[in-house]
Amino acid sequence: MHALKLLSFFVPAVLASSELAQRSTTVCNNSPDLCSKSWGDITHLGAHDSPFLRDSSTSYSVAGNQYYNTTVQLSAGVRLVTGQIHQNDNEWHLCHTSCSLLDAGTLEAWLSEIKTWLDNNPNDVVTVLLVNNGASASDLNTIFEAAKLTSYAYKPSSTSATTSWPTLQELISDNTRLMTFVASLSSNTGATYLMDEFTYIWENPYEVTTASNFSCKPDRPSSVQGDTASALSSNRLPFMNHFLDQDIGLGIVEPNSDAANTTNGQSGTGNLLTAANECKDAYGRQPAFILVDFFDKGPAIDTVDKLNNVTNASGRTPVPGTNTEASSSSTTTSSGTYVGLIDLAKEAKSGANPSTGNWIWAGGNWESILGGGIDL
Ligand SMILES: *[C@@H]1O[C@H](CO)[C@@H](O)[C@H](O)[C@H]1NC(C)=O
Ligand SMILES: *[C@@H]1O[C@H](CO)[C@@H](O)[C@H](O)[C@H]1NC(C)=O
Ligand SMILES: *[C@@H]1O[C@H](CO)[C@@H](O)[C@H](O)[C@H]1NC(C)=O
Ligand SMILES: *[C@@H]1O[C@H](CO)[C@@H](O)[C@H](O)[C@H]1NC(C)=O
Ligand SMILES: *[C@@H]1O[C@H](CO)[C@@H](O)[C@H](O)[C@H]1NC(C)=O
Repeated sequence: MHALKLLSFFVPAVLASSELAQRSTTVCNNSPDLCSKSWGDITHLGAHDSPFLRDSSTSYSVAGNQYYNTTVQLSAGVRLVTGQIHQNDNEWHLCHTSCSLLDAGTLEAWLSEIKTWLDNNPNDVVTVLLVNNGASASDLNTIFEAAKLTSYAYKPSSTSATTSWPTLQELISDNTRLMTFVASLSSNTGATYLMDEFTYIWENPYEVTTASNFSCKPDRPSSVQGDTASALSSNRLPFMNHFLDQDIGLGIVEPNSDAANTTNGQSGTGNLLTAANECKDAYGRQPAFILVDFFDKGPAIDTVDKLNNVTNASGRTPVPGTNTEASSSSTTTSSGTYVGLIDLAKEAKSGANPSTGNWIWAGGNWESILGGGIDL
């Protein structure tokens, strides 16, 4: 009797201390210091056009924005992934501008890859932004269900912009660790986890081709364009695009990989750290998202850690270093590079401007194609 009593006296104490140990080692998005922070108050590193790769799978296509795939990105610390969806053969695919230029496979396969990563990383919150070219909420919901992602999807408690997003720990405890934004979606009836991007977020300009020309000013949605004060007072979250393109003629631009380690770095014209600090000063808060090409260059994550006051990130896996293009400073021009470019050039010649619209990057050495006698 006495022993039992003693035991029951000690058991809770043992539990309490192991609970404490567990709590003190909990790491959210790579840092214990971020657990108590609101998802909307910290800075998330974003991989622009996450599935569009410049690697051996695309013959190092110059339409690729990243050297490593979404899984590698997330494991290295990226917490926002974006992609464009287009219809191809009655399926929704991730394609860059056009499916003949760069088709990264079905949306379902990509979402399944993210689902697997979330399964394997239970203390991480990931944000997905889909640039939509005509899918309905019901089309998307069918695909999210097939990828078994709907149970992870956070449903907003507010249908308008808000300053009170949950903390990372709350999202982790509820296991609603996927924040999903779509631009654009006319209605999310039946799938309220599909959040309309510009209801909750505003962005600075994105079509920058001169390193000295990055700007912190709001650009989209048009209701807050050029007006930082009204963008901030609308309670939308600041989303900082920071990637550089090069214009190769006929209005066609491609990601500027040669400049990536300056663009994502901490010194030199147009560097990420200076730009992020400028935007932070202009906004009176850190940007919620920073979206970059070739995220491993710079590396961009160092600036995001600085903004988040993270000095000792844990649980990250460095990129494998297997991409030959990423480690060389010269641009390869293998034939695969130009797949789809001819179609795009035909469109341009017939008067269309393929660089107008959503994040449209084609690529290749235009002059040499024209000069090389290819009949357009
Ligand atoms: C992503 O890239 C890594 C490293 O190159 C590779 O091992 C892995 O299989 C890839 N994952 C997917 C889902 O493509
Ligand atoms: C700089 O950006 C502005 C808009 O943000 C654009 O109108 C202008 O053409 C750009 N200038 C250069 C040199 O790229
Ligand atoms: C980092 O520190 C700065 C300066 O103290 C503060 O304004 C900011 O909110 C902090 N950010 C995070 C995510 O803790
Ligand atoms: C950094 O984190 C590691 C592992 O999470 C830990 O062992 C180490 O003590 C930490 N260092 C500092 C200075 O906090
Ligand atoms: C930028 O990248 C090139 C090629 O990858 C490399 O030679 C150069 O040292 C890098 N510069 C910096 C500042 O890291």
